[in-house]
Amino acid sequence: MEFKWTTKYSVNNELIDVQHRMLFAIINDLNTYIINGQGLENIEEILNKMSAYATLHFRTEEDILLKSNYTEYQKHKDYHDSFKKQILKSTQEVISNKNEKTVIEIHRFLMNWLTSHILDEDVKYSELLN
Ligand SMILES: [Fe+2]
Repeated sequence: MEFKWTTKYSVNNELIDVQHRMLFAIINDLNTYIINGQGLENIEEILNKMSAYATLHFRTEEDILLKSNYTEYQKHKDYHDSFKKQILKSTQEVISNKNEKTVIEIHRFLMNWLTSHILDEDVKYSELLN
């Protein structure tokens, strides 16, 4: 099943929306991996890409939030930091477990985290960005 970005995920900032769509695309690459059962090398590559892009995206978002004097800035940054740690942990799990079940679990985790983070947390600052 393709994981789709729709306007309900919009946060009133084009750059952040574009980056969120890119994160959706990377998570879809992971789904393609699951369907095609590609090698472990690819999975590591996708998770490393996810980690690098999430880091870039969070930096962009945090910068915008700081400039907007967002009062929940620190709390929001903490969510980002723990997610980054989780991706690194997941990548290590894939490397040591080398099985499809782990990959499916990680895919589900990334999908759930991103959608609930956008809909529960990012929407809170979206009013500031009007
Ligand atoms: Fe965020």
